[in-house]
Amino acid sequence: MKIFNFLFSVFIFSSVIFHANAHNVTHDSRSIIIDGNHRIILSGSIHYPRSTAQMWPDLIRKAKEGGLDAVKTYVFWNAHEPVRRQYDFSGNLDLVRFLKTIRDEGLYAILRIGPYACAEWNYGGFPMWLHNMPGVSFRTKNDVFMNEMKNFTSLIVDMVKRERLFASQGGHIILAQIENEYGNVMKPYGEDGKSYINWCAQMADSLDIGVPWIMCQQAGAPKPMLETCNGWYCDQYKPKDPNTPKMWTENWTGWFKSWGSADPLRTAEDLAYSVARFFQKGGTLQNYYMYHGGTNFGRTSGGPYMTTTYDYNAPLDEYGNLNQPKWGHLKQLHDVLHSIEYTLTHGDVETQKIDNSVTATIYQTNDKSSCFLSNTNTTTDATVNFGGINYFIPAWSISILPDCREEAYNTAKVYAQTWMMVKKSNKAEDEPSCLKWAWRPELIESASVQGKGDVSVNKIVDQKDMANDASDYLWYMTSVELTKDDLMLNGTVTLRVADTGHVLHAFVNGKYIGSQWAKYGNHVAYVFEKSIKLLPGKNLISLLSVTVGFKNYEAMFDLVGAGIASPVELVLKNAGNETIVKDLSSNKWAYKTGLDGISNKYFDPSKSSPKWVSDQVPINRNFTWYKTTFKAPLGNKPVVVDLLGLGKGMAWVNGHSLGRYWPSYIADKQLCKTKACDYRGRYSDKKCLSKCGEPTQRWYHVPRSFLNDGENTLVLFEEFGGNPSSVQFQTVEVGSVCVNAYQGKVVQLSCHDRPISKIEFASFGHPQGVCGSFEKGECESDVDAISILEKECVGKELCSFKISEDKFGKAYCDARRLAVEAVCDDFTF
Ligand code: GAL
Repeated sequence: MKIFNFLFSVFIFSSVIFHANAHNVTHDSRSIIIDGNHRIILSGSIHYPRSTAQMWPDLIRKAKEGGLDAVKTYVFWNAHEPVRRQYDFSGNLDLVRFLKTIRDEGLYAILRIGPYACAEWNYGGFPMWLHNMPGVSFRTKNDVFMNEMKNFTSLIVDMVKRERLFASQGGHIILAQIENEYGNVMKPYGEDGKSYINWCAQMADSLDIGVPWIMCQQAGAPKPMLETCNGWYCDQYKPKDPNTPKMWTENWTGWFKSWGSADPLRTAEDLAYSVARFFQKGGTLQNYYMYHGGTNFGRTSGGPYMTTTYDYNAPLDEYGNLNQPKWGHLKQLHDVLHSIEYTLTHGDVETQKIDNSVTATIYQTNDKSSCFLSNTNTTTDATVNFGGINYFIPAWSISILPDCREEAYNTAKVYAQTWMMVKKSNKAEDEPSCLKWAWRPELIESASVQGKGDVSVNKIVDQKDMANDASDYLWYMTSVELTKDDLMLNGTVTLRVADTGHVLHAFVNGKYIGSQWAKYGNHVAYVFEKSIKLLPGKNLISLLSVTVGFKNYEAMFDLVGAGIASPVELVLKNAGNETIVKDLSSNKWAYKTGLDGISNKYFDPSKSSPKWVSDQVPINRNFTWYKTTFKAPLGNKPVVVDLLGLGKGMAWVNGHSLGRYWPSYIADKQLCKTKACDYRGRYSDKKCLSKCGEPTQRWYHVPRSFLNDGENTLVLFEEFGGNPSSVQFQTVEVGSVCVNAYQGKVVQLSCHDRPISKIEFASFGHPQGVCGSFEKGECESDVDAISILEKECVGKELCSFKISEDKFGKAYCDARRLAVEAVCDDFTF
């Protein structure tokens, strides 16, 4: 009896604790409600496998300092279950550790279980073994698929529940997502698609997580799922169900890059505009996709042809540095929005048209009112009178007046400083100026001459089916017997290979004959055609197909072909001078997945091998392994390796894959149409591009946690042929800082953790240009702004001052601005 009483009281005690700590997450038509409080939630996506566990606390701290309430992530199925029922949650796949880091920094989390992610991630996050299961059909009413999806989703839910991380358990996860943008692609799946999405809803609901589930881009989502919006703007969006609050799960802070494309820039002004406009129009939750984009390490980048960097022009750059002024400009916006949370979620809403382009939105509670003044015109600035006060509202901007009188924020008036990042060598003392290389060949010719595979079939098989995503590389090998009569023209014949896209290297009788790849890898099938010499008797044709990330988006993207397609043909002239086309597609084909150097881990420095050669290091030799040792650059700044000079391949540091490299892929010149980037008007991925005509990606992130204090090893597998002699390690740090802001506000200049050494430029009036290339305008005060700021700032790590006429003199023009460029001291760390 005593034992029973004891157990009973333990039960009561623990359930009281549980309930005392549980958070109640609900909603009404207007907002998300947490523990009875109507909330404005500002959130940002950070994908844990795109950085390292060592980077997480800093990234999340910066998200918090940046004014976010929540961090959101997808869960990446193919990373966690690479082989069916074999799971990996180690290192940067430690989801629970990531979630706990968010919790420990005091932020909420939003968990997008998917398990389809899209996300420019390899195959959208689906494991290839799932594609290779008999009878499977993805994202539709299909038992095999649904069973596996439920299995993985439940596994994640159980894992999170065990750690009591859902808000309903006292944790910090306030929302979870099932599926991803299915509404965008649902049509071709027909009735089965409808059944599937209903099943997703029921399945998710049955997992009983105690917080709401969301479905993004799923108008009229099956209950109790809440639909949400994704895009560059969601102000016009209205959930179908009037009881669903307005939530924006992906505000694209820039865009992703694929090989051949240019650097995206979504301006701080436009991004802030989209957010302010969303809350002006009644939003309750907004998430930046991405807040930190990071890096696609290993073979995780999606397709077609996603780059290794996933910087995304997000508020935190690939390496975790603040991307200024974006980070700072948004921080100020977040502070203002939080300060008016109550009026936004409780106030009556009234809209007043002030003039042709400016509209006022007034949120009014009993004792408070907050206002937005928006100018949606893309070219005309406006000065309007509202409540007896004049406001200057630049084109395509929104002012927020928390008390309907004082302008606390305008989306186009950027007071945050801009950072210009530079790369420095910061070499350790005894580090030589050039790296010393050793090399060894990949055994490519001998592999192709053997013609032996792991499997043989009498047809051409799709690379997804054959290689099961175990490697980028798959050999397709066949032999063909020819007689003298087949081979007129001295044996010259044409080899024709149909390819579904990506890269192909062809060999005949063990000799390399040429390569081809699709521009942008758009899965645009191409035909490789080459004149070759064959011999009477047996000839061996070996085709090395290389994929560069599997497709991750569109209806039925999982079925898009990869690798060599049919037909593979020989075009011959026979003795009678007739053209004969010999189709080899149903020949016996031998298949071999992977490369010798990869299976034998040439990239692993713990496997010492005498076969590396240090002299006569070849350049421009394809299929070549290079190895060097180096000391980590001094200090604690993020490290990159400059791979300019290399062709295409993969890089490893101390056995960790940095991802694929392809610096020889030049960003298309046509893409950068205009020189200047105008923040006004709707953003799209075609706007404000830069770095056309330059390598798509030259620098590759080497996280500090990959590096040792002593000797480190870099290994490159060069597929196309390149020159490693100018490869070098560098740090990424702030070189100079700028402010370009209107009169009236206090601004800050800070080199982060170094003093300011020089004021390069300063002008008060109408200065022109952008940070790094400011010029004086026609209107300028005659007070010497440079010497004022030299006194104020040089030698200091941070200086703040008000931009005023008292300080910088009279400038006889309207809308006066101060532009300053300050140089950061050059010491190492
Ligand atoms: C969305 C998708 C995201 C990501 C984004 C583009 O459609 O939900 O996962 O792919 O597009 O970066």
